[in-house]
Amino acid sequence: MSMTALADDTGVTGRLVAPHGGVLKDLYLPPEEADALGSRCGNLPSLELDTRQLCDLELLLSGAFSPLEGFLGRNDYNGVVEAMRLSDGTLWPMPITLDVSEAFSAGLSYGSEVVLRDGRGTPLAVLEVHDIYWPDRLHEAKQVFGSSDRAHPGVAELLDRTGPVYLGGRVRGIQPPAHEDFPELRDTPLSLRAWFEANGWDRIVAFQTRNPMHRAHRELTLRAAEQVGARLLIQPSVGRTKPDDVDYRTRVQCYRALLSHYPEGHARLSLLPLAMRMGGPREALWHAIIRQNYGASHFIVGRDHAGPGKDASGKPFYGPYEAQQLLEKHQAELGIRVVPFPAMVYVVNRDTYVPSTEVAVTDEVRDISGTELRRHLREGTEIPDWFSFPDVVQILRERHPAKAP
Ligand code: ADX
Repeated sequence: MSMTALADDTGVTGRLVAPHGGVLKDLYLPPEEADALGSRCGNLPSLELDTRQLCDLELLLSGAFSPLEGFLGRNDYNGVVEAMRLSDGTLWPMPITLDVSEAFSAGLSYGSEVVLRDGRGTPLAVLEVHDIYWPDRLHEAKQVFGSSDRAHPGVAELLDRTGPVYLGGRVRGIQPPAHEDFPELRDTPLSLRAWFEANGWDRIVAFQTRNPMHRAHRELTLRAAEQVGARLLIQPSVGRTKPDDVDYRTRVQCYRALLSHYPEGHARLSLLPLAMRMGGPREALWHAIIRQNYGASHFIVGRDHAGPGKDASGKPFYGPYEAQQLLEKHQAELGIRVVPFPAMVYVVNRDTYVPSTEVAVTDEVRDISGTELRRHLREGTEIPDWFSFPDVVQILRERHPAKAP
């Protein structure tokens, strides 16, 4: 295939898409500088990061959040909250902030350095404090999540478990957070881009998920890949997802089993240490930008992407296709192409999955919700073959043995 044949409106011309903002950031210091900084850490104020902050730091340092070079200062924060833009105008939908207590912030001033540590006390990075500010978190919740209802996990976290002071500033990486599991499935944007190049992948459609994947997901991803003529990157979020989700280790086993149900060499699995906020449309836009930074040319957005469920009055927080609409609105500013997908549903009489737009009035449609699936697992009742693959079901059953009646 010639280079011209490959070129299209994504800007893909036989090479990988440019990162968001044009340059892939790598915030790790060269080894000698990291050692020197590491040896100064004992004298600096130090902060133990929680799970969300650790995930954010890891993705900042590796360049997955390019063009960000640190936690947002006040101007960037205000721009992101009000209009999804950094102060230089770059599209950025999700505030990446470092929250601390008032007591911790009292010991700091502009120009202070703060060591950012993991739960074991290992110094991972140093923050150069350029800004110390008191955000209006209720306003942030309303702007970013469109709600102040604590039934929304992102809202509850922001209002109840987020410190009142934000620190903004550049971060310089000493070492990446340690992960003991699945090292072979963990990539940085640089390492994944290198893998794509080494394997000749230049059209790549990325799929985000926080759930075990079943037949509907396989059908959806295969169709999307075929539609745009791309290989498939299955990139589940394994940092922190919605409370009550299946734990990521079980999910990874399911994804591995599922890979054998794809044509060989067409799908690649890579884990993303992302702390999801369940922010629906804004979150979907953020997901797309992250996947662009990892080198994907296309991104699947299906029904109710990153949806947090229903509010206190029983109404869904977001419309099922609101995320698709927001991404399409900003498509011109993205280097990654959005692949919107309707709900995939199982049609009994045709014994196949089809997009809901292709369902005929005479068709009998069936679905199993996440809640129903959990009930089947809990009660040990049958999970039909049309819904999932026996090997995936087996893994879920081992992890969630049915309770004795
Ligand atoms: S999410 O929080 O990561 O979005 P989930 O893992 O359920 O949750 O979904 C991953 C992606 O698949 C999202 O783009 C979502 O819209 C899409 N998706 C999941 N199930 C379906 C379905 N039955 N039909 C269409 N899209 C779906």
